Amino acid sequence: MTQQYNFDFEEYEDISKLNEGDAALLLEARKITQKAYAPYSNFLVGAAAIFANGEKVFGTNQENASYPVGICAERVLLASASMIQTDEPILTMAISYNNLSRNGGSDRPISPCGMCRQSLAEYELRTNHPMRLVMSGMEGKVIVVQSASQLLPFSFSSNSMK
Ligand code: THU
Repeated sequence: MTQQYNFDFEEYEDISKLNEGDAALLLEARKITQKAYAPYSNFLVGAAAIFANGEKVFGTNQENASYPVGICAERVLLASASMIQTDEPILTMAISYNNLSRNGGSDRPISPCGMCRQSLAEYELRTNHPMRLVMSGMEGKVIVVQSASQLLPFSFSSNSMK
């Protein structure tokens, strides 16, 4: 029997079409791209998230001369989140990037890598709460998904080991 996996996502022309909270978070994600350490890829990623208690947390990608050692902005953010607010749900994470090797800027929404999807899904499971993702570049289109786990169907989790 053929089955389907479907999910709804929202697509906006630009930041001006977002609600106030999402727009503020995306602006912070765009701004913090400046703090990325990405001398090898010149692809500066910024992430900003808001906890259920209103506190915010940020992350940027941190690269290394030994390339695989580098960490994506999303996982830097989650590691920080775990330290400052253990088990507090994250309601929304905004992600943006500045592609310096293409003269800076970016107008296509970013999408988290597979390893980050796995980490995002575990954060949702651990806090028992969906995390919305607001994905964009420095300008233009914005994609919003209601739960990070939707980007990782058939995922492996602690449940898989029970
Ligand atoms: N990167 C992120 O930080 N987040 C993403 O969602 C995609 C990729 C980083 C990893 C690496 O430092 C650079 O972007 C190029 O892949």
